[in-house]
Amino acid sequence: MATTTAPARRGTTARGTTVFLKFIMATTGIVFIGYVLLHMYGNLKIFGGQEAFDHYAEGLRTFGEPLLPYGGLLWIVRILLIASIIGHLYAAFTLWSRANSARSQRYAVKKAVGVSLSSRTMRWGGVALLIFIVWHLFHFTIGKPAVNSSVSASEVAASPYVMVVASFQLWWMTLIYLAALVALGFHLMHGVFSAQQTLGWTQSPAAYTRARVSAQAIAAIVVIGFALPPLAILFGIVE
Ligand code: HEM
Repeated sequence: MATTTAPARRGTTARGTTVFLKFIMATTGIVFIGYVLLHMYGNLKIFGGQEAFDHYAEGLRTFGEPLLPYGGLLWIVRILLIASIIGHLYAAFTLWSRANSARSQRYAVKKAVGVSLSSRTMRWGGVALLIFIVWHLFHFTIGKPAVNSSVSASEVAASPYVMVVASFQLWWMTLIYLAALVALGFHLMHGVFSAQQTLGWTQSPAAYTRARVSAQAIAAIVVIGFALPPLAILFGIVE
């Protein structure tokens, strides 16, 4: 009796954990989507000119005063993002290593079987996004280097508008961001659909189509919305 039920129970537990890990990926992914949409909206204020953009950046820090301290909202958002990143990465790498070990057992002789193009794109695209985010934080939040010799470090420190415009006047900087946006677009297209699947929102054919279309729409909005400021700056529309 024990010999027949134990493997079944082990299998159920493993499946249950996999579902839980996917649930973590989906919910933390929703946090990122919310953040990315708000961030994209904020970036578009660059089209309102230097005063509007710098006022908005300062408003992010004074929001909620005096109830919150200066910069309080930013820190709440940062803590939520850091917790979500830890959860997302933990779940991703656990699922990744589980898939690898399952494959190495099953395909001891035949290798290179079974990893779909989309899951490979998700994994390596995710790693690329992680590298981009570290670079991006150094570029615009922590280091704030004056990458363009037309402006000084103190001008960059004084105005987020100057910092952003001076950066994207450089073609190679715009190229780095556009490449990251391609990775983000693919990650969102697959991730937004997968999250809806995990949450059980793709049960009927109509719901399945809705999930696909909404994933494509969110990816397109985010890529275009983020790409507009750098391109407008590079081509001299915003200066
Ligand atoms: C063209 C694309 C982008 C531009 C122009 C841009 C611009 C900026 C700027 C100016 C800041 C500093 C904000 C401030 O301190 O007032 C910032 C911070 C940040 N950005 Fe972006 N960003 C872009 C894309 C992205 C993407 C794709 C992501 C995520 C996938 C992202 C995530 C972040 C994060 C996490 C911060 C740090 C916020 C904080 O804690 O202060 N950004 N970005």
